[in-house]
Amino acid sequence: MRCPLFMGTSSCLGGLICSCCCFDDDDKPNQEQEPAAMAAAAATPSADDDQTAIITHRTVELSTGVRLHLAEAGPSGAPTVLLLHGFPELWYTWRHQMRALAAAGYRAVAPDLRGYGDSDAPAVADPGQYTALHVVGDLVALIDDVLGEKQVFVAAHDWGALTAWSLCLFRPDKVRTLVALSVAYTPRSAARKPVDGLRALFGDDYYICRIQEAGEIEAEFARLGTELVLKKFFSYRYPGPLFFPKSGWGSLDDEVPLPSWVTEEDLKYYTNKFEKTGFTGGLNYYRALNKTWELTSPWTLAKINVPVKFIIGDLDLTYHSPGIQDFLHKGGFKKFVPLLDDDIVVMKDVGHFINEEKPNEVSEHIINFIKKFS
Ligand SMILES: *[C@@H]1O[C@H](CO)[C@@H](O)[C@H](O)[C@H]1NC(C)=O
Repeated sequence: MRCPLFMGTSSCLGGLICSCCCFDDDDKPNQEQEPAAMAAAAATPSADDDQTAIITHRTVELSTGVRLHLAEAGPSGAPTVLLLHGFPELWYTWRHQMRALAAAGYRAVAPDLRGYGDSDAPAVADPGQYTALHVVGDLVALIDDVLGEKQVFVAAHDWGALTAWSLCLFRPDKVRTLVALSVAYTPRSAARKPVDGLRALFGDDYYICRIQEAGEIEAEFARLGTELVLKKFFSYRYPGPLFFPKSGWGSLDDEVPLPSWVTEEDLKYYTNKFEKTGFTGGLNYYRALNKTWELTSPWTLAKINVPVKFIIGDLDLTYHSPGIQDFLHKGGFKKFVPLLDDDIVVMKDVGHFINEEKPNEVSEHIINFIKKFS
């Protein structure tokens, strides 16, 4: 398959962002997969539930003026692993890895990123406050002033991974290693703005294109209700491009079973926070793509100079963006990420929310990788 990256006709970037949205009439296959997925994962969830107490919480005010909610686990003097969530997620997506990292002797720190959960959503009506430079600015302030670290280990998923790639580009001195989940690094292309490339490739209903228009998707999410929206995201396992059709993202009557790796309690936590804070903060990251592209011209075709481990599920929509498998497996990715671990992990029968769906395996990969650099 032709990779748009090498043809200079478009940028893959946006196509790799959070690929967990639905066609309005395509929920059936998910339901059929449910029993098998349930049996496979039934053994994992309960073991670490009773250790919840070791996760502590605080709110810190950064020198960027933004207050972030932090969840933390592990001894305070230990090497720090910063965990960055995606959309529509929260620090909570890392709960399993936090316990595993703490048990392995690391300090795990998972913020709600700006715009999310119990953190500030600064100027939420102005997506210009959500560029990669703003979000990375928060992280640098967090690392320097709050955590008091010269360097941290980073693990990141979905939009968190995009932010982590930017952190590695802008401030490689701050990152010891990166474990990136679901979203690969694709360098900025000077030839075309990412949203234009995506529109040319997938059309106006492609989710990232629909999200550009302030308020439209918020209205659709409000019609469906926060809980159903989150269930639809979490249960999504369709390996292909995703669309928010103008006719609606499904019906209120849709039966959307919870995936085995999301408990009622988990769903309640996410629902309460997104009810309170709304989706706009997270959606602003997509709406800032244009401005980020404008501001990052100095990093056109730049390489990532940090040791990296990459992990992805074979049912993750991000693994089915046009050209991505060739890019990952035939040298393109390695060219732009020279310190990439050659063993790219492709997990079988795993969807987008890989750190929640395969908590033990992902924790092990993170710990084994950072151990080599500790
Ligand atoms: C970004 O730019 C594209 C055109 O290049 C436009 O279609 C889209 O609406 C813009 N997004 C925002 C949030 O302004």
